[in-house]
Amino acid sequence: MKKLLIASLLLFSLSFSQTIQSPNGKLTLTFALSANGEPTYALSLGSKSVVKTSKLGILLKNQPSFDKGFRIAKTDTSSHDSVWEPVWGEVKQIRNNYRELAVTLHQKAEKDRTLIIRFRLFDDGLGFRYEFPIQQNLQYFIVSGEATEFSLTGDHKVFWIPGDYDTNEYAYSTSQLSTIDATVGHAADEIFARTPVARNAVQTPLMMKSKDGLYINIHEAALVNYPAMNLSVNQKTFALSAVLVPDPVGNKAYLQTPAKTPWRTVIVADNAPAILASKLILNLNEPTKLADVSWIKPQKYVGVWWELHVGVSTWNYADTNNVSLAGTDWSALKPNGRHGANTARVKRYIDFAAAHGFAGVLVEGWNIGWEDWFGQWKEEVFDFVTPYPDFDVKELQQYAAQKGVKLIMHHETSSSVSNYERRMDAAYRFMKEHGYDAVKTGYVGKIIPRGEYHDGQWMINHYARVAEKTGQYQIMVVAHEPVRPTGLHRTYPNWLACEAARGNEFNAWSHGNPPEHETILPFTRLMGGPMDYTPGIFQIKMDYYKNGRTTQVHTTLTKQLALYVTLYSPIQMAADLPENYERFPDAFQFIKDVATDWDDTKILEAEPGDYLTVARKTKGKDEWFIGAITDENKRSSKVSLDFLPKSRKYVATIYADAPDAHREKNPMAYQINSYIVDSSTMLNLSLVSSGGTAISLKPATADDVKKLKEY
Ligand code: NOJ
Ligand code: CA
Repeated sequence: MKKLLIASLLLFSLSFSQTIQSPNGKLTLTFALSANGEPTYALSLGSKSVVKTSKLGILLKNQPSFDKGFRIAKTDTSSHDSVWEPVWGEVKQIRNNYRELAVTLHQKAEKDRTLIIRFRLFDDGLGFRYEFPIQQNLQYFIVSGEATEFSLTGDHKVFWIPGDYDTNEYAYSTSQLSTIDATVGHAADEIFARTPVARNAVQTPLMMKSKDGLYINIHEAALVNYPAMNLSVNQKTFALSAVLVPDPVGNKAYLQTPAKTPWRTVIVADNAPAILASKLILNLNEPTKLADVSWIKPQKYVGVWWELHVGVSTWNYADTNNVSLAGTDWSALKPNGRHGANTARVKRYIDFAAAHGFAGVLVEGWNIGWEDWFGQWKEEVFDFVTPYPDFDVKELQQYAAQKGVKLIMHHETSSSVSNYERRMDAAYRFMKEHGYDAVKTGYVGKIIPRGEYHDGQWMINHYARVAEKTGQYQIMVVAHEPVRPTGLHRTYPNWLACEAARGNEFNAWSHGNPPEHETILPFTRLMGGPMDYTPGIFQIKMDYYKNGRTTQVHTTLTKQLALYVTLYSPIQMAADLPENYERFPDAFQFIKDVATDWDDTKILEAEPGDYLTVARKTKGKDEWFIGAITDENKRSSKVSLDFLPKSRKYVATIYADAPDAHREKNPMAYQINSYIVDSSTMLNLSLVSSGGTAISLKPATADDVKKLKEY
């Protein structure tokens, strides 16, 4: 603390400073105002500095900024401690426990304009935001930037993707802060709409590890009516500064009092599992306003999807282009004979889902427009209500209902968002009339209105409009290519998941996702919310389809199973083709069994970029699942089952890499064994390069105990 104060004194001549501590006393936040009225903050964990004295402030267009000339009008401190239950999640109950400091600042020279900076200090980190209360001399204003800084203590190891206004579908790089170079090595050609920011700009959630053993994660919470934040890294001082996504004329946000920014978050711990267990971002989001949430159902689904990505079938009905919604006679088009979303094929998926207990069947390519959806930057691509001639909506509605399965609608907007907004109500009514209660949206391509970006204020408001409107229609949403999540699923629990990162699909048609990818995602992208990663690919190599491709998934088959536990989502796809699951019924059993909603989660071991082992207890059931994954390095570890209730026996079914499995040479070799275990059992896990282990733990019957060996 002393060191911190001296450091701040050297930088600024202090006119005011105030300190608060987290509930357990370990984190310390210092707010200070320099002699010329510049607000700053600093954060430490025990004796270690996490964020050195760093600037705060908001830059305004056409008027003096909110970054200096302040004096303290008042400060308020308070505490909060409560427990709440998420509609669905990784744990049944969440504790929200923090100390708060709200600093009200006046700018005397600017007719006493007022800014409030509110800090919430939890045991696992800090959130702070700017608030613009109703006041005489500020009503409508344009944010041109943020002065916010995160001044770090050294050249930390960092897991990052390039700063970009339009996409987050990059593979991660690991480097020091000083060696970040966002211009190289990111397979830029594989991402369709990119707007990279700068060589030294990165995205959040940003995961770092300091030389003195601190794990630090920077992100934001409750991104509402404001652009997303990228970070620009000063590669000499290690100060990160906020870069807001602009609109077409270069402005960042249009606000009207009363207004507030999203929370800026710094999660910190001396161990990696604690970062994954943090609920800080959810706690900083608003509770849901939905009175009835009984219709929101965590679930697993299958769908006409992977077969499109591996080229077995097509989204489009005809091999033509230059179609138009109004001018084309769709029933007169010559079908290409490979259209995936045809009634017979969809029935096959419905049968498969019904036979194996999947709630949903996603169908992509069911609606007219796919002939020229890609890359045209065209406004009227889809109408979201007209099926292709070979997709019988009514017949499928009946068939699915008979089989107790729900179809999941697909709305690829082609990023023509103005078009989608015009048609949204009709589209959701159409869904409800035809028995659909979930939609997968998509935003591939450059945004229309032209000049807007995926992560700018206009689009942030669009995603929220979709979440709100679908909530009114009682429709669940999974969004692909949106901004990365910031915990808004607490407010909109029908917004089940987002893609918003590089998903499994890249393995179908690009050089794919490196073996470490899934060990980084939980520390980065998933900090803000669930991901529709679409795991469960069994047919690892794509040359199987004789499609001329040499692409492959860069994991073993067993690692694909473990992802159902390590990559949390309330909606999980069994992404491979039914035909492939039928080849491996014993391994498929794990996907059939695994839950999507949990009472409890234990992060058993974790290191970003290296490995992760997670255990989760099924909601309302005496049953656990474990997933363990590793990066390109093989790995053995011992895992204690001491989280199980004492003196109760369970059957552990262990899906492991075969000893001769190898992610490139023999990725589909696995072995399955069942044993009797209890809370005193230590499991020996053995994972090959980019391998995994998946385990189900179910209460043992007397018969099981007789038949099975003890572990
Ligand atoms: C990209 C999405 O991520 C993918 O899931 C979808 O199949 C295609 N866009 C087509 O909409
Ligand atoms: Ca995508």
